[in-house]
Amino acid sequence: MPDQPADAIVLFGATGDLARRKLFAALFHLHQRGELDLPVIGVARSDWDDDQLREYAVEAVRETVPKVTKAKAQAFAKQLTYLRGDYAEVKTYRELAKLLADAELPVIYLAIPPSVFPDVVDGLQKSKLALRSRVVVEKPFGRDRESAGELNATLSSAFDQDSIFRIDHYLGKESVEGLLAFRFANTLLEPIWNRRYVANVQVTFAESFGTQGRAGFFDDVGTVRDVLQNHLLQTVALLAMEPPISDTADAYRDEEVRVLRQAEALDPKQTIVGQYVGYLDEEGVAKNSRTETFVATRLNIDSWRWAGVPFYLRAGKCLPGSATEAVVELRRPPRLLFAGRRDDARSGVPEANRLHFRLGHSDGVTISMQAKVPGREMITQEVALDVDFDHALGERREAYERLLADAMRGARHRFAREDTIDEEWRIVDPILERSARPLPYYTGTWGPEGADDIAGGHWHSVSLK
Ligand code: NDP
Ligand code: BG6
Repeated sequence: MPDQPADAIVLFGATGDLARRKLFAALFHLHQRGELDLPVIGVARSDWDDDQLREYAVEAVRETVPKVTKAKAQAFAKQLTYLRGDYAEVKTYRELAKLLADAELPVIYLAIPPSVFPDVVDGLQKSKLALRSRVVVEKPFGRDRESAGELNATLSSAFDQDSIFRIDHYLGKESVEGLLAFRFANTLLEPIWNRRYVANVQVTFAESFGTQGRAGFFDDVGTVRDVLQNHLLQTVALLAMEPPISDTADAYRDEEVRVLRQAEALDPKQTIVGQYVGYLDEEGVAKNSRTETFVATRLNIDSWRWAGVPFYLRAGKCLPGSATEAVVELRRPPRLLFAGRRDDARSGVPEANRLHFRLGHSDGVTISMQAKVPGREMITQEVALDVDFDHALGERREAYERLLADAMRGARHRFAREDTIDEEWRIVDPILERSARPLPYYTGTWGPEGADDIAGGHWHSVSLK
């Protein structure tokens, strides 16, 4: 049943990093809201028992949820049990099936390395658990277009399409989803949301830190696969897509995939990749690694709405601060009616209006406008109309909590469809393999030389944490 509520959660990868950083906190919040009235079974290889998993979960919750008491974290952790098992062994699935004997519809969350994926799907299929489960699959989904296709085939051989939930946690972020509300719930914006009024769109994903102990994982993946193929392209899809014809999950995803289909594959000549100085010395990084820790590129969308409007995308680690921000720059007015501006070389033409959508921290929107400077002269300066969503809208749930809740109730809006992922890989495939080394850049700078040229020499400043 597509919208039957789940009655058990199985967490493959319960002893791993993602569980520790994100998933236990998400489960904890659901528990606090009284929305986790079902068993949660962690499955991994470590020789642990229930108590050790519970202790791990308590530590994880205390590290990631502000101001939580130990008692509350422990009350949540009581709900967890642990199954020790190797994913390659039939015995693991036999024992899991016994534990799930009373469950009609478990959600099986695969927070596991891609290398063990086929074993797990095979085990779930052979034990027949796949026939009555929903499966949640972590990103990155494959390594390129071809391997993503193979992964889809593996999954589809075991699970019904409606039971496959492909995570891109950006789709679960209130701020990212809010882009659609901004566009389609405000008459003010929709008429100008096209090539006639928009000069360019810039999306920045910046992290002030490096691999944070995940170098082993990251070195095999790199920035393009880790965030550009998924988080940044999903953000672009929401900024650029047409309004869905209804509110069904497939109506949304039809529009997402339609706009991605209209995007041209990325051009290596319009792309710069970099690697921060010091990356090669990190533990877990191959000596001669060519993995990129920075990318800046230009995406063209060949549609009536967007032809000729560049979408500049950049993402990287060890940059001057952390931010995820989309900036929509409007065209300048043709001329200023009034006298010339004081410090504008193109005197007479005011700065372009911009909309800054903060999607990563201090979520909100800032619209830059021109206002008259007080005094006799008719000159203008930029002023900001600023909304902080925490302040204006109150508490919002974290992405992983929303996505887990969605998977539990069978809601598919916020999960990526097979064809969307295929299009995303088509777009990034040409920039995945390179013969040249990535260009070096120093920690705390905005990437290597040439990164600015990608955006015509002018990336807008974003609000950094
Ligand atoms: P980790 O390496 O930290 O954890 C892997 C988990 O899988 C561990 O619980 C490990 O068990 C278990 N495991 C691996 N191989 C086997 C096996 N053969 N048999 C039984 N258990 C096994 O990975 P992450 O948590 O970092 O990542 C998991 C997934 O989530 C990946 O696909 C990653 O791309 C994705 N992801 C991770 C993010 C993060 O912040 N970490 C962010 C976004 C996505 P044990 O430790 O007991 O051996
Ligand atoms: C994950 C990437 O998908 O997203 C990480 O694997 C990255 O490398 C993270 O740090 C960023 O997520 P957020 O929610 O902090 O923007």
